[in-house]
Amino acid sequence: MAKLSPSVLSADFTKLGEEVKRVLDAGADMIHFDVMDGHFVNNISFGIPVLKDLRKAFPDVYFDVHLMITDPLLYVSEFAEAGASCITFHVEAKSPLTATLASIRALKCDAGLAINPSTPAEAVFPFLDDLSLVLSMGVVPGHGGQAFIPGTLNKLRILRDECDRRSLTPYLSVDGGVKAESTAPECIKAGANLLVAGSAVFDAPDAAEIVRLFKSL
Ligand code: DX5
Ligand code: ZN
Repeated sequence: MAKLSPSVLSADFTKLGEEVKRVLDAGADMIHFDVMDGHFVNNISFGIPVLKDLRKAFPDVYFDVHLMITDPLLYVSEFAEAGASCITFHVEAKSPLTATLASIRALKCDAGLAINPSTPAEAVFPFLDDLSLVLSMGVVPGHGGQAFIPGTLNKLRILRDECDRRSLTPYLSVDGGVKAESTAPECIKAGANLLVAGSAVFDAPDAAEIVRLFKSL
């Protein structure tokens, strides 16, 4: 069964703690925390102090931190200290990939690598043996609520085949445009085992109901 990581980018920030509690109570497996720097992507979201407060309020939750920032190596230690469980950054970022992955692991966090829609799946192959999570973007990163790019499915298949060929079991995650009633089942069929969903969960009239629907897939 695929796991669900609701993205709080689409939550109501005036009641962030309640929103997080609601989706966790409904069965969400972890919380996806989207960090944007206004440079790597054309949007600015939230960062270290917000994660720190969430960690304080939810000491046992797995925080799946997705850094859409230009130079993740500069910030991984602060995100680890603030309570990240897994830190995922982009192969397209400017930090040296091997050093950044090593730094994340030295901080006792799980390490993930993300790829944009225009980046081939093979870009993560040299690092695959050391990853806890591989994230294939279903949209151009920067904003919630965009339509899923169908070419993502083929990339998920390529990643699934390569992981299976090497007997590796990282989370194979898909982020952007994931909807329980349409794209999520296709992503699972293509090999994803971790679904990130923002607007599908938090813009729904009943977030708990949608979490349960995702979890039934
Ligand atoms: C997009 C973010 C996503 C975003 C997904 O740049 O990385 O995590 O919250 O939002 P939806 O599910 O609405 O496409
Ligand atoms: Zn994300």
